[in-house]
Amino acid sequence: MSTEITSEFVWHNIPPRPRDSHKGSFGTVLAVAGSAYYRGAALLAAEGALRTGAGIVTLASVEPVLAAAVARLPECCLCPCVAGAEGGISPESIPQLQRQKATVLLLGPGLGSTAQSTGRAAETRTLVQKLLPGFAGSAVLDADGLNAAAQLLAEGKTLPHPAGELIVTPHPGEMARLTGLSAAEINADREEIARQYAKKWNAVVVLKGCCTVVAAPDGRVCTNPTGNPGLARGGSGDVLAGMTAALLACGLPAYEAAACAVYLHGAAADRAAAALGEYGMLPHDILSQLGRIFAENH
Ligand code: APR
Ligand code: MG
Repeated sequence: MSTEITSEFVWHNIPPRPRDSHKGSFGTVLAVAGSAYYRGAALLAAEGALRTGAGIVTLASVEPVLAAAVARLPECCLCPCVAGAEGGISPESIPQLQRQKATVLLLGPGLGSTAQSTGRAAETRTLVQKLLPGFAGSAVLDADGLNAAAQLLAEGKTLPHPAGELIVTPHPGEMARLTGLSAAEINADREEIARQYAKKWNAVVVLKGCCTVVAAPDGRVCTNPTGNPGLARGGSGDVLAGMTAALLACGLPAYEAAACAVYLHGAAADRAAAALGEYGMLPHDILSQLGRIFAENH
């Protein structure tokens, strides 16, 4: 039996910021995201992390992404990466990425492993294989990071895991690639499948879509009552990935961070839909509404 995430659960787990806190109290998110082809995904993820309370957000990416970030998100620190031949983040950037003083790693949005370019797919795969196991904190693996992980699993390798906790955030298509099941099979039994794979991968599984399911390796499962079909557009998932990483950086354990992020993301989307309609709202309208929710509850 799963439970629904409630507002009480969320605000119990996200306390007011202590009066004497400083930026170090809320961690550093290192977002390894974006490529020349997918610049917006990295920006949405970075802003999701900034708007959800992370102390510092560093965006590691290629120059065209960083140029856009500096124009739109002056609060974001930048980590310039070597560009691969096909516009993605080259594995040559890894030593520099490993020197970053991050407490949370967010890996995946906009990296581009499902692009037709097999070169970029190989680069993303190397990033996932090299960055995750060497990371001392907790991590969120999303989007093209998941597609790269799916290739590793298909070869019989294990899912790379950081020293801390791991959160994976697949939509049903990504979950299908990770498990070898069909999206229809997954959607027929979402809670049980999320629970099974959370245990198998020792990761918190956020199985997205209408009524997102969050499952922990210890068997806890919850479903999300917030959100609407206005979220069914590219970019919504990138915002959620950044929000989830921020709550980890603020010190929430992985299951709580994932459940709170999913609930707040949907609640902000419900306000965006009330203001602009499900057809008219955009993922960055979720970010605009989020602050109002925090303001009303703290
Ligand atoms: N009701 C509630 N929530 C929904 C609904 C719905 N009907 N549809 C989608 N959502 C939510 C999901 O739960 C999730 O939080 O919107 C978000 C969508 O996330 P993704 O599917 O990951 O989409 P996103 O990453 O933004 O899309 C960008 O991802 O799969 C790749 O290549 C694809 O370019 C695409 C990219
Ligand atoms: Mg996505």
